[in-house]
Amino acid sequence: RDRQAIIAIDGPAGAGKSTVARQVAAKLGLVYLDTGAMYRAVTWLVLHEGIALDDECAIAELASGCVIELAPGQDLQSPVQVWINHHDVTQAIRSIAVTSNVSAIAAQSAVRQALVKQQQRWGKKGGLVAEGRDIGSHVFPDAEVKIFLTASVQERARRRLRDFQKQGQSDISLEQLEKDIAERDWKDSTRKVSPLKKAPDAVEISTDGLSVTEVTEKIVDYYQQRLSQF
Ligand code: CDP
Ligand code: CDP
Repeated sequence: RDRQAIIAIDGPAGAGKSTVARQVAAKLGLVYLDTGAMYRAVTWLVLHEGIALDDECAIAELASGCVIELAPGQDLQSPVQVWINHHDVTQAIRSIAVTSNVSAIAAQSAVRQALVKQQQRWGKKGGLVAEGRDIGSHVFPDAEVKIFLTASVQERARRRLRDFQKQGQSDISLEQLEKDIAERDWKDSTRKVSPLKKAPDAVEISTDGLSVTEVTEKIVDYYQQRLSQF
């Protein structure tokens, strides 16, 4: 092989992709790539520039011309640091405004083309744990390890609620989170371009009742087993 291994992790919101992918990357000495952060950054830029969400031409131009930079978070618990056109948007891309509009932006084919191209460039040499919705099915179809993480909507909403409460935000209800997650699931899995879908050769892990450590260990074990086959 002319590149190092790639681990692709896909699944719906709150399945544990980012948390688990960071742990797996740290354990195996691989680079962690959060592709959702890239779609969030473009969404932030669209809102920041006041472009209408359905102005696909203007958004296409923005997505193909923007510069996105990613760097690891401060520690294993922190999300990646993100810049778009040199604006530090690490915090801003997690806002409710971005979260509720990102699926509409991510459904536009020109946006996907631009970001997938960048992801594939970063992944050329391998040595990567990439996480998103279309990694195993589209971005890195030849990844050595493909994981599809799931959990019930209720469990995923409870996890998100815990995250908000830890940040001191208590004005969000579990019902609202369930509704938001179900709506994003629906938009992400029914869009025309690269919808959220389990690749036929992906291993599905249902994470209800499993800890982050347990899920991480399952993936690391599977990676080692797969690697011995190559
Ligand atoms: O962390 P969370 O699961 O809430 O979302 P994310 O991974 O940050 O992704 C945010 C949104 O970006 C998703 O709801 C998708 O609409 C989009 N996305 C995508 O379309 N393709 C990817 N590879 C990653 C994210
Ligand atoms: O990236 P994604 O949206 O798939 O999920 P995440 O942001 O990594 O995980 C959402 C929350 O669920 C985090 O607080 C994780 O620590 C937690 N989690 C969990 O409690 N149990 C798991 N097996 C995986 C994640």
